[in-house]
Amino acid sequence: MHQSNSQQPIIEIHDLKTWFPIRKGFFSKIQGHIKAVDGVSFRINKGETLGLVGESGCGKTTLGRTLVGLEKEKEGTAFFEGNNLFTMKHSDKKRVRPKIQMIFQDPLNSLNPRMNVLDIITEGLVYYNRIEDSREAHAIRLLNQVGLSAEALYRYPHEFSGGQCQRISIARAISIHPDFIVCDEVVSALDVSVQAQIINLLRDLQETYQLSYLFISHNLCVVSHIAHNVCVMYLGKVMEYGPVTEVIDHPKHPYTQALISAVPVPGMNSERILLKGDIPSPSNPPSGCRFHTRCPKAFSVCQKNSPDSCVIENSTVWCHLYK
Ligand SMILES: Nc1ncnc2c1ncn2[C@@H]1O[C@H](COP(=O)(O)OP(=O)(O)OP(=O)(O)O)[C@@H](O)[C@H]1O
Ligand code: SF4
Ligand SMILES: [Mg+2]
Repeated sequence: MHQSNSQQPIIEIHDLKTWFPIRKGFFSKIQGHIKAVDGVSFRINKGETLGLVGESGCGKTTLGRTLVGLEKEKEGTAFFEGNNLFTMKHSDKKRVRPKIQMIFQDPLNSLNPRMNVLDIITEGLVYYNRIEDSREAHAIRLLNQVGLSAEALYRYPHEFSGGQCQRISIARAISIHPDFIVCDEVVSALDVSVQAQIINLLRDLQETYQLSYLFISHNLCVVSHIAHNVCVMYLGKVMEYGPVTEVIDHPKHPYTQALISAVPVPGMNSERILLKGDIPSPSNPPSGCRFHTRCPKAFSVCQKNSPDSCVIENSTVWCHLYK
C-alpha cells in the first residue's frame, strides 16, 4: 500500500478500555467484567487505513463500536480531530459524530428490510438537513459513486446480492461526508471475487475523499490489500503494531507469527505454528503476558510481568523476547 502524504492523525486512542459487566443472582449483582478491550492505544493518520486483526472474541468489534459511540468506554481517551470523543460537549457531538461512520459485517441484516434504497441512503442526509437538490438526484449520485445505477432507487434490500447490499451500506456511510469509517468484517460474508471489488471501491473512495478507515478483519490476506498499518490484538490487548509490509513480511510477536503461518501463501511451504489450547476467557485473562498460556516461546518471566512496548524496525511489539 502507498503511504499517504499527510501524517496528521485523524484519530488517536490511548489506553482504551471497554468492559462488559457480568451480572448474577436475583439482584443482578455485578460479579466481574468481560474485559473485551483492555488498554488499547493507536493512531490512524488522515487518508490511511489501520487493519485490526486477531482471533474471534479478541475485542475488535467492541473497539470499533466504542469509537462510533455504540458501546460505552470504561477508561481511556479517543481524540478525533482534536476532540475527545468520550468527554466532548453535546453541541460538539452533533457536529463531530456524523464524521464517524460504521459499516457492518452482514450486508443484508444491516439494512432495514422495510425501507427502499432511496430511504436507506438518504436517511442521514434528511436527518442532518444536507439534501443538495432533490432526494432522488442526491441518491442517484451516491449510487453511481458506489457502482450502482438509478434502477436500485425504489427496490428493497432483499432484492440485491450480498455485494450489492454492501455497496448500498457504503453509499449510506459516505452520504454525510464522514472523515473516518469503521469497517467491521465488511467483506467476510462475500465471495472472493466480490471481496476484491468492494476492497477496490473502498480504496477508490479513500483516494477521492481522503477517508480514513479502521478495517477490522480476521483475514490477514484481505487486510494486506487495503491497510497501511496493522494492529494485532489478542484478548483485549495489542500485541504488535506497525506498517503492513513489516508486520506481515517480518512478524516479530509470536502471536503474529502464528497468525501469519496459518495464511496459505501460494508457492511457499512455510510451517504452520499450531497454538496449544483455547483462548482464555476475557473475564479472567492470564497474568503477565496474556498470550503466555499458548505461546510456543514463553519463558519464566512471561507469566509474571506484563511486557512493555518495544520498537523494532518500525514495528511496536509487546513481548519480553525483545527487551
Ligand atoms: N454486549 C456484550 N455483552 C457482553 N459481552 C460482550 C458483548 N459484546 C461482546 N462481548 C464479549 O466481548 C468479547 C469481545 O467480543 P468482540 O465481538 O468485540 O470480538 P471480535 O474480535 O469482534 O470477535 P469476532 O471476530 O468473532 O467478531 C467476547 O468475549 C464477547 O463475548
Ligand atoms: S512475552 Fe513471553 S509469552 Fe508473551 S509473546 Fe513474548 S515470549 Fe510469548
Ligand atoms: Mg467482531
